[in-house]
Amino acid sequence: MRATILVVDDEKNIREGLAESLALDGHVVRTAADGAAGLKAVEEGDVDLVITDLKMPVLSGGELLRALAGRYPGLPVIVLTGHGTIEDAVEAMRFGAFDFLTKPVNLDHLSLLARRALERGELARKNRELEAEVEAQRRTSSIVGSSAEMKRVFELVRRVAPTKASVLVTGESGVGKELVADAIHNLSPRRDGPLVKVHCAALAESLLESELFGHEKGAFTGAAGRKRGRFELADKGSLFLDEIGEINQNVQIKILRVLQERRFERVGGEETVESDVRIIAATNRDLKKEIAEGRFREDLYYRLNVVNIHVPPLRERRDDIPLLAMSFLREFAEENGKRVEGLDPKARSALYAYDWPGNVRELRNCVESAVVMARGPLLTPDDLPPTLRAAGESHDVRVPAGSSLAEAEKILIAETLAAQGGNKSRTAEILGIGRKTLYQKIEEYGIEAPAARGES
Ligand SMILES: Nc1ncnc2c1ncn2[C@@H]1O[C@H](COP(=O)(O)OP(=O)(O)OP(=O)(O)O)[C@@H](O)[C@H]1O
Ligand SMILES: [Mg+2]
Repeated sequence: MRATILVVDDEKNIREGLAESLALDGHVVRTAADGAAGLKAVEEGDVDLVITDLKMPVLSGGELLRALAGRYPGLPVIVLTGHGTIEDAVEAMRFGAFDFLTKPVNLDHLSLLARRALERGELARKNRELEAEVEAQRRTSSIVGSSAEMKRVFELVRRVAPTKASVLVTGESGVGKELVADAIHNLSPRRDGPLVKVHCAALAESLLESELFGHEKGAFTGAAGRKRGRFELADKGSLFLDEIGEINQNVQIKILRVLQERRFERVGGEETVESDVRIIAATNRDLKKEIAEGRFREDLYYRLNVVNIHVPPLRERRDDIPLLAMSFLREFAEENGKRVEGLDPKARSALYAYDWPGNVRELRNCVESAVVMARGPLLTPDDLPPTLRAAGESHDVRVPAGSSLAEAEKILIAETLAAQGGNKSRTAEILGIGRKTLYQKIEEYGIEAPAARGES
């Protein structure tokens, strides 16, 4: 990882010696002769790591460390200690220093420690970015997603919400169809009206009809009084017809009529009822196929499907996985009163590799159980269900047709590196290349390496 490192020491020889050695590792190095100058350099921006002496004039290393910890949490600091200041170094660790080095400095050790500190800083930065993004999305809607596919869904929701057009939301079970329906209603001018939901599959045929349209007293055995149906209750609001593919032909005709005429009669009644309703329907079935097989009315399909919003399965938008996982993690950490802050790189790559047949619902359940199991601040593969752990160990790498050899190489390196939790020795071994070659390629392709664990 190429980075900008700030070296702060009042002794010119040490300052310049360290700077030279770090520059040989490919880093950009800046220097400062005391704590105050060091703080100023950090304020100017772009510093990824600070290496500072403790005993300095103007502002000591300890004071610098405290100032940085307050203002730049996540910026790693390595402390240099001379003879007799070990106690100060221990004190510095308490103030959040990443590690310390004793003078005279062993340059190999310096190089290794710098790399580790930078990787840690990078991980902290990524977690903070994810958190900020989750927060920003929470404010606008409860739907989390940043993939190109979900951006398309958001865009469609924003465009249809202000209209009265019927919307058919399609997609596999657990992709978030109901959340899309909620968002359409909440972004529409009807948001102050009711959003009434009918789970069509859950109701027996006879009940469904009276549930939707209501009934008059004595319409059937057990109809003790007049009951208003969901179409009536949704007046001036939206009606969400979930699992619309499950309703029978008889009810299909009745719904079609309401959509065409905007009026209907209650079961067992003569009186015509009018209702101003916006319809949002959802299904995980292929309605075109249902039509071809004679189970679903084509005319109803066109009435419902004025606008189609298709929510793709999670495996086709894996870029959403980290963000979703982080959002659920925060939700369940809070709910269970646990201090879980993120995922370790291996757990993250296991989530990324898994195929998610149950889509977002499955991911949500999985993160919930992992948070409950978690013993440390980061979720590890051990906290995940066994099927997922297996996914982390081996997974297919997909290279889009039409990629150049270089692009394919980049994808393969990045995926292997992620699957190995950022461990470059193992990645190089698996790819059958030397470590040096691997480093060069990571640099050349600008691959973002996850922070390594258990590697030296
Ligand atoms: N993009 C998302 N952001 C946050 N949570 C999501 C997202 N998508 C789905 N969820 C969550 O996943 C679960 C399933 O979502 P939802 O009920 O909307 O799916 P569905 O497509 O209606 O599924 P089904 O077809 O089984 O009814 C819910 O707990 C929901 O909050
Ligand atoms: Mg649903």
